[in-house]
Amino acid sequence: MFHDVINIRHAKKAAAAGVDGLIAVCNGAGGHAGTLNPFALLAEIRQFYQGTLILSGSMSTGQDVASAQMMGADLAYMGTRFINTQESRANPEYKQMIVESSAADITYTPKVSGIWANFLKPSLEKAGLDPDSGEKKKVDLGEELQAPEGGASAWKSIWSAGQGVGSIADAPPVAQLVERLQDEYRGATDHFAQLSGAYLEKQ
Ligand SMILES: Cc1cc2nc3c(=O)[nH]c(=O)nc-3n(C[C@H](O)[C@H](O)[C@H](O)COP(=O)(O)O)c2cc1C
Repeated sequence: MFHDVINIRHAKKAAAAGVDGLIAVCNGAGGHAGTLNPFALLAEIRQFYQGTLILSGSMSTGQDVASAQMMGADLAYMGTRFINTQESRANPEYKQMIVESSAADITYTPKVSGIWANFLKPSLEKAGLDPDSGEKKKVDLGEELQAPEGGASAWKSIWSAGQGVGSIADAPPVAQLVERLQDEYRGATDHFAQLSGAYLEKQ
């Protein structure tokens, strides 16, 4: 069992409970994101935890996955990128909003579900909520999970996404996306080998 954590207190508790791995949900992730920078959170977790460590938040490309591993993660965990695939059953308008959005269109707010999470500002506006107002819509999480079809509820008509939306421009089939991620991963590791080789030679 892998366990989401957004801070060291959560990570220590989960590690003590014997989880198989930790998912560091960092600043900019879709859903209930944390606020910590990935360099900071990964490094602190690695000081006491040697198990499987997964990085989550704003990754959209194979280069991002390679970077996560350079930072000390074993694996990378992508959410928003896979909303925009052919197989995903997300509303087509949601997918289009992701294509049209960039990081500036993501707002971190507790106003929707009572828990801090990242949402697409245009979807809040579409639902009649002002992303910048102090108004708070308290939603019962149990209710929310059983929202009626077409009902205005958190997640269903107010859409969540991570800050990595700016790198998402399409909704391909999953197999095609995975192939692209592999190519980008290879390209990134080759590029890094060249770049680091040049720096290391200078020493
Ligand atoms: C619409 C949406 C719903 C999510 N629901 C959950 C959830 O129920 N449980 C969970 O652990 N994480 C959930 N997440 C978070 C993802 O598991 C993942 O950590 C996150 O999407 C990674 O960040 P990224 O979207 O920037 O790639 C959700 C994310 C999104 C975008």
